[in-house]
Amino acid sequence: MRRVFCVVTASLLLLAWAGASCGGKKEAEAETLNTTTAEVATAVEPEPLPAETVALDGRELTEKKCTVCHTLDRVQKKKADLEGWKSTVNRMIGKGAQLDAREAEAAAEYLTAEYGK
Ligand code: HEC
Repeated sequence: MRRVFCVVTASLLLLAWAGASCGGKKEAEAETLNTTTAEVATAVEPEPLPAETVALDGRELTEKKCTVCHTLDRVQKKKADLEGWKSTVNRMIGKGAQLDAREAEAAAEYLTAEYGK
């Protein structure tokens, strides 16, 4: 009850006076801080996961990156083992396919699983 009285007094009377008499000012300050922190927390969007932690989807990559110059037909007609697909993907990169090393690996693995020997 005394605490409630203090808080009420603090909000009704001068904060400085309340602070001196029963520590109400500190409480009021803490409250302000909490509100600010909570507002900041809700305002900040969750960061998207860094690319390295997201598993690459070989099928999606193949459908997206390997249909720029020709249809998927060309891809589907081929059968090769992992080494074969790796070298094909690298050859396509040489022609201008936009895949980084990780994407090339994921695409080659998917292609081997789907169109392996
Ligand atoms: C920058 C354009 C380009 C992109 C992107 C591209 N290709 Fe090709 N691809 C070609 C051309 C041009 C040919 C035909 C000439 C040749 O075979 O060298 C071809 C032929 C092929 C062939 C048939 C020849 C062979 O080696 O068996 C396959 C399979 C193939 N591409 C797979 C892929 C895959 C898989 C991807 C995605 C990783 C891809 N391509 C992306 C240009 C491209």
